[in-house]
Amino acid sequence: NFVPKFAFYGTGDYREPAVMVQTAKGDRICELLYDGYDILDEKPKITGMPCMRDEKTLVLHLRDRHNGFAADLYYSVFDDCDVIARRVVYKNTSNEGMTLDRAYSFSVGFPKKEYDVMSLHGSWGNERSIQSIPLHHGVVSIDSKRCTSSAILNPFMALLEKNTTEDHGEAIGVSLVYSSSFVLKAEKNSDGKVFLSGGINDFDFEWQLDAGKKFETPEVILAYSNNGIGAMSRAFHDAMRNHLINPRFVNQKRPIVINNWEGTYFKFNNEKLIAIADAVKGTGIDTFVLDDGWFGKRDNDCSGLGDWVVNENKLEGGLKPVIDHIHSLGMKFGLWFEPEMVSEDSDLYRAHPDYAIGVPGRPHSYSRHQFVLDLTRKDVRDYIVNSVNKILSENEIDYVKWDFNRNITEPFSLDPERKNLKEFAHRYALGLYDLCERIIEAHPHILFEGCAGGGARFDPAILYYFPQIWTSDDSDAEERTKIQYGTSIVYPTSAMSCHFAVVPSHQTHRITPAKTRADIAHLGATGYELDTSVFTDEDREMVRNQIEQYHKMEDLILKGDLYRIENPFEGNYFAVTLVSKDKKSAHVTCYRRMGGSNCVFRPIYPAGLNPDTVYYCPEFDCDLTGSTIMNAGIVPYFHNEDFRSRTYTFIAKE
Ligand code: DGJ
Repeated sequence: NFVPKFAFYGTGDYREPAVMVQTAKGDRICELLYDGYDILDEKPKITGMPCMRDEKTLVLHLRDRHNGFAADLYYSVFDDCDVIARRVVYKNTSNEGMTLDRAYSFSVGFPKKEYDVMSLHGSWGNERSIQSIPLHHGVVSIDSKRCTSSAILNPFMALLEKNTTEDHGEAIGVSLVYSSSFVLKAEKNSDGKVFLSGGINDFDFEWQLDAGKKFETPEVILAYSNNGIGAMSRAFHDAMRNHLINPRFVNQKRPIVINNWEGTYFKFNNEKLIAIADAVKGTGIDTFVLDDGWFGKRDNDCSGLGDWVVNENKLEGGLKPVIDHIHSLGMKFGLWFEPEMVSEDSDLYRAHPDYAIGVPGRPHSYSRHQFVLDLTRKDVRDYIVNSVNKILSENEIDYVKWDFNRNITEPFSLDPERKNLKEFAHRYALGLYDLCERIIEAHPHILFEGCAGGGARFDPAILYYFPQIWTSDDSDAEERTKIQYGTSIVYPTSAMSCHFAVVPSHQTHRITPAKTRADIAHLGATGYELDTSVFTDEDREMVRNQIEQYHKMEDLILKGDLYRIENPFEGNYFAVTLVSKDKKSAHVTCYRRMGGSNCVFRPIYPAGLNPDTVYYCPEFDCDLTGSTIMNAGIVPYFHNEDFRSRTYTFIAKE
């Protein structure tokens, strides 16, 4: 009755323990043995944390026969995707307190094979680059110590059997449904067997588990493919779309936004915003998003955060005149918030300096001139909920962009009822989820978009609340091919918010053709982010045509299967095919980075079509079988210029 797939400490199992617990006696020995099971018809929710929904769940009960420590291992399987969701509930069934020093969500063993470990690393403007290294004897570990999932390493890891490609070989992926400090580990033991484990980062972690209490860990989604990395990604995409992302929005057509950030930054007034909106009337853009700078004393990023009252110096008469005008154009209205933050120069900070995270007497570490509010405190959360909900209730708002522009430093709470500070990182996550529940559920009609100084908090837990996430502050189409390719390893296309922006790019100063910027931005929940008040009739016509094209592929973005066919990290091209589940329609986007004199045109090979189906391709104006398209390939003609893109459509003939 030993459960070898779950490792614990002190009785001869020398693999990475999934749990470390200290009893009142001071010993840390733990032997969790099988003690029965239950099959639940309905998958239970995790208290205070997001998780997958639906489907039956197996619960294995494990118990230490000597100290009253117990663990329930939850396994949920799903009919429509090759994933297992796992988590653990640790329980103290003794009469004395215990301390958890580590409380992972899972551990799982694999046979002796040669694997590479894949993960997604990055930084601001360069999120989710793919990296892969051979798994050596020992432990390969990725983590966050930032109290957020972060741009640095995504809470995702995969084991790839040697020589695995997009469509061949074994891939086992792990995606943690969590937004705070995490760790994921791949371990190769002396016998060559491989072991994956992880969950909440045990760095600077400790949890007091009083007698009779339980501790629930975040969920982890494990995806398996023996058909390469692409099938693993598609399993994650289906799992997240069908069982994680808010069902109110997941399959709904997303707003096509005009966002004023890169167009105006902090410098705007009613007239400017209205001019930006008026300029896109009739183009198909259906939502105007007012970004940072509408509140408090906020003329730059040094002040105002936390004061969620309209800045009437910029917006005379409040939000209403702008909102009414936007609505009169038949467009929806969206608003930016950064609920978790406070500026030192703000009324909120002057009144409640203790609301910010930090140690009295020690300087704060500055990041974008702002401090983080202490979400571990109920009174702080109440303040945020009330002030944000007030704006959302008093105005007709259809969409919210929820930003988070810095990582946490000085993790210290001034809560009079403060708990052990080693509980801080996890309590911050619980506070964030509480905030999301209370703001989002109070306004069920509003679509909330996640954002974190670009895509620095792009994780499945955030996706549960925000059906789409701003993928990166870098809107340069060339850079976006990599960012979006890397993000798609785990996250569905519809989760990526992508905007067409002006050239030269504000991030890279690169000039890319407008078609390329549209083709790449349309591989997601699309939008425009530039000063449209200077648009010519020609610009307007261009956007109208682009959006008309977008509508043709919109269903594939929301519900289709993604096949990555050219990897921009490895070569001069980026290409993907989006295919409908019934394989009756497909869209191919291909992009070539560098042209060159006498450049050789080479085929790319769409994937995922039905080989026997005859498809009509309007761009070539001919019929081709799926097999011909996939095996002979198509040869995109790029003008002899850099950064060119082409798109192709394939429609099954009756
Ligand atoms: C960072 C976001 O990623 C941007 O899109 C913009 O909203 C700024 N913050 C505003 O401060």
